[in-house]
Amino acid sequence: MSNGGKTPAMIRHVEAGQLCCDPVWEAAYERFETPEEEIAKFIKRLRKFGVDQLDKQSSVIELFCGRGGGLVALQRLGFTNVEGVDLSDTLLESYRGPAQLHLADCRSLPMSDATYDIAIVQGGLHHLPNLPDDLNESLSETRRILKPGGRLYVIEPWMTPFLRIAHAITDQPIVRKLYAKGDALATMTEHESETYFQWLGMPDVLMQSFSRYFDTVQCDMSWGKLAYVGKPR
Ligand SMILES: C[S@@+](CC[C@H](N)C(=O)[O-])C[C@H]1O[C@@H](n2cnc3c(N)ncnc32)[C@H](O)[C@@H]1O
Repeated sequence: MSNGGKTPAMIRHVEAGQLCCDPVWEAAYERFETPEEEIAKFIKRLRKFGVDQLDKQSSVIELFCGRGGGLVALQRLGFTNVEGVDLSDTLLESYRGPAQLHLADCRSLPMSDATYDIAIVQGGLHHLPNLPDDLNESLSETRRILKPGGRLYVIEPWMTPFLRIAHAITDQPIVRKLYAKGDALATMTEHESETYFQWLGMPDVLMQSFSRYFDTVQCDMSWGKLAYVGKPR
Protein backbone atom coordinates (compact mmCIF):
# COMPACT_ATOMS: atom_id res chain seq x y z
CA MET A 1 0.00 0.00 0.00
CA SER A 2 1.61 3.31 -1.03
CA ASN A 3 0.67 5.36 1.97
CA GLY A 4 3.86 6.34 3.64
CA GLY A 5 5.45 2.96 4.23
CA LYS A 6 5.15 3.13 8.02
CA THR A 7 4.66 -0.18 9.81
CA PRO A 8 1.41 -0.24 11.76
CA ALA A 9 1.26 0.70 15.41
CA MET A 10 -1.07 -1.96 16.72
CA ILE A 11 -2.47 -2.28 20.23
CA ARG A 12 -3.56 -5.87 20.92
CA HIS A 13 -6.67 -5.94 23.08
CA VAL A 14 -7.52 -9.61 22.48
CA GLU A 15 -5.54 -12.84 22.84
CA ALA A 16 -4.53 -14.76 19.71
CA GLY A 17 -6.94 -17.56 20.70
CA GLN A 18 -9.90 -15.22 20.36
CA LEU A 19 -9.20 -14.41 16.72
CA CYS A 20 -11.75 -15.36 14.12
CA CYS A 21 -10.15 -15.45 10.75
CA ASP A 22 -10.51 -17.54 7.63
CA PRO A 23 -7.36 -17.57 5.45
CA VAL A 24 -9.28 -18.56 2.28
CA TRP A 25 -11.70 -15.63 2.71
CA GLU A 26 -8.79 -13.28 3.45
CA ALA A 27 -6.89 -14.45 0.32
CA ALA A 28 -10.01 -13.86 -1.84
CA TYR A 29 -10.46 -10.41 -0.24
CA GLU A 30 -6.85 -9.57 -1.17
CA ARG A 31 -7.52 -10.77 -4.78
CA PHE A 32 -10.87 -8.99 -5.20
CA GLU A 33 -9.41 -5.51 -5.59
CA THR A 34 -5.94 -4.01 -5.59
CA PRO A 35 -5.32 -1.73 -2.62
CA GLU A 36 -5.43 1.31 -4.93
CA GLU A 37 -8.79 0.26 -6.44
CA GLU A 38 -10.15 -0.25 -2.96
CA ILE A 39 -8.86 3.11 -1.69
CA ALA A 40 -10.41 4.89 -4.70
CA LYS A 41 -13.74 3.17 -3.94
CA PHE A 42 -13.56 4.24 -0.29
CA ILE A 43 -12.75 7.86 -1.20
CA LYS A 44 -15.74 7.93 -3.56
CA ARG A 45 -18.04 6.53 -0.85
CA LEU A 46 -16.80 8.95 1.80
CA ARG A 47 -17.27 11.89 -0.57
CA LYS A 48 -20.80 10.71 -1.35
CA PHE A 49 -21.55 10.76 2.39
CA GLY A 50 -20.03 14.27 2.58
CA VAL A 51 -17.33 13.12 5.00
CA ASP A 52 -14.75 15.11 3.02
CA GLN A 53 -16.59 18.31 4.10
CA LEU A 54 -16.16 17.57 7.82
CA ASP A 55 -13.52 19.06 10.13
CA LYS A 56 -10.23 17.31 9.30
CA GLN A 57 -9.20 17.47 12.98
CA SER A 58 -12.18 15.25 13.90
CA SER A 59 -11.30 12.07 15.75
CA VAL A 60 -12.28 9.22 13.45
CA ILE A 61 -12.49 5.50 14.12
CA GLU A 62 -13.04 2.93 11.41
CA LEU A 63 -14.51 -0.28 12.82
CA PHE A 64 -13.95 -3.63 11.03
CA CYS A 65 -11.20 -1.82 9.09
CA GLY A 66 -9.58 -4.95 7.60
CA ARG A 67 -6.28 -4.18 5.85
CA GLY A 68 -6.91 -0.45 6.29
CA GLY A 69 -7.82 0.83 2.83
CA GLY A 70 -10.46 3.02 4.46
CA LEU A 71 -7.85 4.46 6.83
CA VAL A 72 -5.69 5.40 3.84
CA ALA A 73 -8.73 6.98 2.15
CA LEU A 74 -9.38 9.10 5.26
CA GLN A 75 -5.74 10.11 5.39
CA ARG A 76 -5.82 11.15 1.71
CA LEU A 77 -8.95 13.22 2.39
CA GLY A 78 -6.90 15.11 4.99
CA PHE A 79 -7.99 13.52 8.29
CA THR A 80 -5.09 13.42 10.74
CA ASN A 81 -6.62 11.76 13.79
CA VAL A 82 -7.62 8.31 12.56
CA GLU A 83 -7.81 4.90 14.25
CA GLY A 84 -8.86 1.45 13.07
CA VAL A 85 -10.22 -1.68 14.74
CA ASP A 86 -10.28 -5.22 13.40
CA LEU A 87 -10.18 -8.76 14.73
CA SER A 88 -7.63 -10.00 12.17
CA ASP A 89 -4.01 -9.31 12.99
CA THR A 90 -3.01 -10.60 9.52
CA LEU A 91 -5.12 -7.93 7.82
CA LEU A 92 -4.11 -5.16 10.23
CA GLU A 93 -0.44 -6.00 9.68
CA SER A 94 -0.77 -5.30 5.94
CA TYR A 95 -1.74 -1.66 6.64
CA ARG A 96 1.03 0.91 6.20
CA GLY A 97 0.38 4.37 7.57
CA PRO A 98 0.06 6.59 10.60
CA ALA A 99 -3.33 5.47 11.98
CA GLN A 100 -3.44 3.84 15.40
CA LEU A 101 -4.66 0.25 14.99
CA HIS A 102 -6.50 -1.83 17.58
CA LEU A 103 -6.73 -5.60 17.40
CA ALA A 104 -10.08 -5.88 19.13
CA ASP A 105 -13.62 -7.16 18.88
CA CYS A 106 -16.11 -4.50 17.80
CA ARG A 107 -18.74 -6.10 20.04
CA SER A 108 -16.67 -5.10 23.06
CA LEU A 109 -14.60 -2.04 22.27
CA PRO A 110 -11.64 -1.13 24.50
CA MET A 111 -12.04 2.65 23.99
CA SER A 112 -13.36 5.12 26.57
CA ASP A 113 -16.83 6.64 26.41
CA ALA A 114 -17.41 9.70 24.19
CA THR A 115 -13.99 9.60 22.50
CA TYR A 116 -14.71 9.95 18.76
CA ASP A 117 -16.49 12.43 16.49
CA ILE A 118 -16.95 9.97 13.64
CA ALA A 119 -17.30 6.18 13.45
CA ILE A 120 -17.23 4.41 10.09
CA VAL A 121 -18.10 0.82 9.15
CA GLN A 122 -17.54 -0.41 5.63
CA GLY A 123 -18.71 -3.98 5.23
CA GLY A 124 -18.02 -5.44 8.68
CA LEU A 125 -21.40 -5.83 10.36
CA HIS A 126 -22.49 -8.59 7.96
CA HIS A 127 -19.63 -10.72 9.38
CA LEU A 128 -21.24 -10.87 12.82
CA PRO A 129 -22.35 -14.42 13.61
CA ASN A 130 -25.27 -13.92 16.00
CA LEU A 131 -27.88 -11.48 14.77
CA PRO A 132 -29.36 -9.34 16.05
CA ASP A 133 -27.47 -9.72 19.39
CA ASP A 134 -23.98 -9.07 17.96
CA LEU A 135 -25.28 -6.11 15.98
CA ASN A 136 -26.89 -4.67 19.10
CA GLU A 137 -23.63 -5.07 21.01
CA SER A 138 -21.59 -3.46 18.21
CA LEU A 139 -24.01 -0.54 17.79
CA SER A 140 -24.31 -0.05 21.54
CA GLU A 141 -20.52 0.03 21.84
CA THR A 142 -20.23 2.39 18.87
CA ARG A 143 -22.77 4.74 20.42
CA ARG A 144 -20.86 4.59 23.72
CA ILE A 145 -17.49 5.61 22.19
CA LEU A 146 -19.02 8.37 20.04
CA LYS A 147 -19.25 11.88 21.44
CA PRO A 148 -22.78 13.29 21.79
CA GLY A 149 -23.48 14.83 18.40
CA GLY A 150 -21.06 12.41 16.71
CA ARG A 151 -21.93 10.47 13.57
CA LEU A 152 -21.93 6.84 12.49
CA TYR A 153 -21.45 6.14 8.76
CA VAL A 154 -22.22 2.62 7.55
CA ILE A 155 -21.96 0.85 4.21
CA GLU A 156 -23.11 -2.77 4.17
CA PRO A 157 -24.50 -5.19 1.59
CA TRP A 158 -28.27 -5.03 1.20
CA MET A 159 -30.63 -7.28 -0.73
CA THR A 160 -31.83 -5.31 -3.72
CA PRO A 161 -32.67 -6.47 -7.28
CA PHE A 162 -29.15 -5.48 -8.36
CA LEU A 163 -27.54 -7.75 -5.73
CA ARG A 164 -29.75 -10.70 -6.73
CA ILE A 165 -28.61 -10.31 -10.34
CA ALA A 166 -24.95 -9.87 -9.32
CA HIS A 167 -25.10 -13.11 -7.30
CA ALA A 168 -26.78 -14.97 -10.15
CA ILE A 169 -24.00 -13.87 -12.52
CA THR A 170 -20.98 -14.49 -10.27
CA ASP A 171 -22.37 -17.93 -9.28
CA GLN A 172 -22.00 -19.15 -12.90
CA PRO A 173 -18.95 -21.48 -13.20
CA ILE A 174 -18.01 -19.96 -16.58
CA VAL A 175 -18.03 -16.44 -15.12
CA ARG A 176 -15.88 -17.60 -12.20
CA LYS A 177 -13.43 -19.19 -14.64
CA LEU A 178 -13.12 -16.18 -16.95
CA TYR A 179 -13.44 -13.30 -14.51
CA ALA A 180 -10.96 -13.31 -11.63
CA LYS A 181 -12.75 -10.56 -9.72
CA GLY A 182 -16.07 -12.43 -9.99
CA ASP A 183 -14.39 -15.60 -8.71
CA ALA A 184 -12.85 -13.74 -5.76
CA LEU A 185 -16.25 -12.25 -4.91
CA ALA A 186 -17.99 -15.62 -5.18
CA THR A 187 -15.28 -17.23 -2.96
CA MET A 188 -15.74 -14.51 -0.36
CA THR A 189 -19.52 -14.96 -0.48
CA GLU A 190 -19.17 -18.75 -0.10
CA HIS A 191 -16.84 -18.43 2.87
CA GLU A 192 -18.94 -15.84 4.65
CA SER A 193 -22.24 -17.26 3.43
CA GLU A 194 -23.67 -18.08 6.84
CA THR A 195 -23.29 -14.56 8.23
CA TYR A 196 -23.78 -12.83 4.86
CA PHE A 197 -27.13 -14.43 4.02
CA GLN A 198 -28.28 -14.19 7.62
CA TRP A 199 -27.59 -10.42 7.38
CA LEU A 200 -29.35 -10.06 4.00
CA GLY A 201 -32.34 -12.06 5.22
CA MET A 202 -33.48 -9.87 8.12
CA PRO A 203 -33.58 -6.23 6.94
CA ASP A 204 -36.40 -5.17 9.28
CA VAL A 205 -34.71 -6.64 12.37
CA LEU A 206 -31.44 -4.93 11.44
CA MET A 207 -33.09 -1.55 10.95
CA GLN A 208 -34.79 -1.93 14.35
CA SER A 209 -31.33 -2.40 15.90
CA PHE A 210 -30.03 0.75 14.23
CA SER A 211 -33.08 2.67 15.47
CA ARG A 212 -32.52 1.47 19.03
CA TYR A 213 -29.11 3.18 19.27
CA PHE A 214 -29.12 5.86 16.55
CA ASP A 215 -31.42 8.43 15.03
CA THR A 216 -31.35 8.15 11.27
CA VAL A 217 -29.77 11.08 9.45
CA GLN A 218 -29.60 9.38 6.07
CA CYS A 219 -30.60 5.92 4.83
CA ASP A 220 -30.34 4.74 1.26
CA MET A 221 -30.82 1.16 0.07
CA SER A 222 -29.87 0.79 -3.56
CA TRP A 223 -27.44 -1.03 -5.85
CA GLY A 224 -26.95 -3.82 -3.31
CA LYS A 225 -25.83 -1.50 -0.52
CA LEU A 226 -27.16 0.09 2.64
CA ALA A 227 -25.72 3.60 3.04
CA TYR A 228 -26.66 4.76 6.54
CA VAL A 229 -25.77 7.78 8.65
CA GLY A 230 -26.91 7.95 12.26
CA LYS A 231 -26.45 10.14 15.29
CA PRO A 232 -26.34 8.65 18.80
CA ARG A 233 -29.70 8.53 20.56
C1 LIG B 1 -15.49 -7.54 4.60
S1 LIG B 1 -14.15 -7.17 5.68
C2 LIG B 1 -14.20 -5.45 5.54
C3 LIG B 1 -12.89 -4.82 5.78
C4 LIG B 1 -12.81 -3.34 5.40
N1 LIG B 1 -13.79 -2.55 6.09
C5 LIG B 1 -12.98 -3.20 3.93
O1 LIG B 1 -14.03 -2.79 3.44
O2 LIG B 1 -12.05 -3.55 3.23
C6 LIG B 1 -14.79 -7.50 7.27
C7 LIG B 1 -13.78 -7.33 8.36
O3 LIG B 1 -14.41 -7.48 9.62
C8 LIG B 1 -13.49 -8.10 10.51
N2 LIG B 1 -14.26 -8.61 11.66
C9 LIG B 1 -15.17 -9.61 11.67
N3 LIG B 1 -15.73 -9.72 12.90
C10 LIG B 1 -15.17 -8.76 13.67
C11 LIG B 1 -15.37 -8.34 15.02
N4 LIG B 1 -16.25 -8.96 15.81
N5 LIG B 1 -14.65 -7.30 15.47
C12 LIG B 1 -13.75 -6.67 14.67
N6 LIG B 1 -13.53 -7.01 13.38
C13 LIG B 1 -14.23 -8.05 12.89
C14 LIG B 1 -12.78 -9.12 9.67
O4 LIG B 1 -11.53 -9.48 10.21
C15 LIG B 1 -12.65 -8.35 8.35
O5 LIG B 1 -11.45 -7.64 8.27
